[in-house]
Amino acid sequence: MPKVFQLGYVALGVSDFERTKNYYLETLGTQLVDTDSDKAAYLSIGYAHHDIVLKPSSEQSLLHLGYQLNRGADLDAFARDLKDLGLTPEIKSDSQPGVSRLVEVDVVSGNVIQFYETIETPAPGFARKGIAPLNLGHVALVSPDTPKLVEFYRDFLGFYPTDQIGGLANFLTCNHDHHVVNLLEAGPAKIHHLAFQLRETADHAMAADTLRLADIPVKWGPSRHTAGHNIAAYHKDPNNVLIELYTDMDVWIPELGMCEPRPWHEHLPMVPRNWGFDELSAWNVDFDYNLAAAE
Ligand SMILES: [Fe+2]
Repeated sequence: MPKVFQLGYVALGVSDFERTKNYYLETLGTQLVDTDSDKAAYLSIGYAHHDIVLKPSSEQSLLHLGYQLNRGADLDAFARDLKDLGLTPEIKSDSQPGVSRLVEVDVVSGNVIQFYETIETPAPGFARKGIAPLNLGHVALVSPDTPKLVEFYRDFLGFYPTDQIGGLANFLTCNHDHHVVNLLEAGPAKIHHLAFQLRETADHAMAADTLRLADIPVKWGPSRHTAGHNIAAYHKDPNNVLIELYTDMDVWIPELGMCEPRPWHEHLPMVPRNWGFDELSAWNVDFDYNLAAAE
């Protein structure tokens, strides 16, 4: 059983801070819950204290991810286990609003992860403007040592590997979503994309209309992926981070090591496989945008 059950938050260093904050509040549709002495903005989708943290910075950067440990987890014991792996975890108290105690560890240079058992849930409610997604569903990351990071997620945290693309993109999950994280082999640690789940598939049209009003072009999609079979569309936030909006993701059944069968699956049973880079769209839509390179 995985040691964590959900991705809690992603913290980003942001160069164009006011414009980016405005995008997350007004266009994506989140709620500003808190700020701190670094002028960071803590944004909630509707329930937890924060799902996204934006920190003013000279350049775009991935600061850290936050994963919520299973209820009752012992942070001190967890930190000791990380130490036994040869890592150097740090227990932090009151280092950020909303999370009183956490363990932070730099698993692979630049791929910093925070683990916590409890986060405050002020429940500001879902935004009544913008796209107002259901949740932060997954994150795709570039790592300088992806095999080591995959090993950490799989062997230490207990994530299930669900699919690969081209042997280079590694999809893993800690719950019933096909993937909670996608680890890509490419270079220095950075974010490839952030993915938010929409309420329903019809909302892709609403989201595209909302982006149009904000003068933000859709880069790729909507189309159904192969790995995960989510219907996805991508655009960029003002900080140049690729944002995925999706619905209809495959449901992973850990007990069977397969996804719940769907009429559109190319293979039954839908067990983990290595898809080709030419198989990004299950509908074979030929988009110009280079989604793999995110540019
Ligand atoms: Fe994605």
